[in-house]
Amino acid sequence: MQFFLDTANLDQICEVRDLGLLDGVTTNPTLLAREGGDWREQASLICDAVDGPVSLEVIATTHEEMIKEAKDLVSFGENVVVKIPMIAEGLKALKELREREIKTNVTLVFSPTQALLAAKLGAAYVSPFVGRLDALSQNGMEGVDQMRTIFDNYGFNTKILVASVRHPMHVLESALIGADVITIPYSTITQLMKHPLTDSGLASFLADWETFQNQP
Ligand code: E4P
Repeated sequence: MQFFLDTANLDQICEVRDLGLLDGVTTNPTLLAREGGDWREQASLICDAVDGPVSLEVIATTHEEMIKEAKDLVSFGENVVVKIPMIAEGLKALKELREREIKTNVTLVFSPTQALLAAKLGAAYVSPFVGRLDALSQNGMEGVDQMRTIFDNYGFNTKILVASVRHPMHVLESALIGADVITIPYSTITQLMKHPLTDSGLASFLADWETFQNQP
């Protein structure tokens, strides 16, 4: 399973990249706005820093405008994947973008049938938002499991990119289901690394070694 980082923060991106864990990055308008400053400069710095796909999202809500924006977004780098919202106008844009060989990530996906539509239209990625569904007492991961079955049934190449991740259990369940990619907030990456038994185990190994070295 590939690990993308769900952020527009360059320090976080570089830190995870330097750990060797970064396969790509997803941004959205909220994440870029959170960084402040010139979003174009920020987007281009992110594209340069990442050796892998970087999702940049359109703001437009008509397919003509989405295509225009997509053409601009791909100028930030060869690794840009254009995020298109899962609305009828977005679906309309997918075909033309595919013909232009512009990779797309269909975002704001909340049901397996929405994912099926995006896959039929040749999206490179679909992004099911699991955390936002969980927050409404719906099981986000159940939908991802159904998407996996549907995509395998028909041999779709569209990658399932689990998004709106809230905690390590989302990562575990995504890996068990066989999601292709998960986009993880920086805080969850940190949680994945930690286990109290690792810390206490290391402390006791080091203490035992110290005692042994100091034996007369
Ligand atoms: C995915 O590409 C989105 O950026 C992201 O996961 C949004 O999720 P959230 O706003 O619910 O955290």
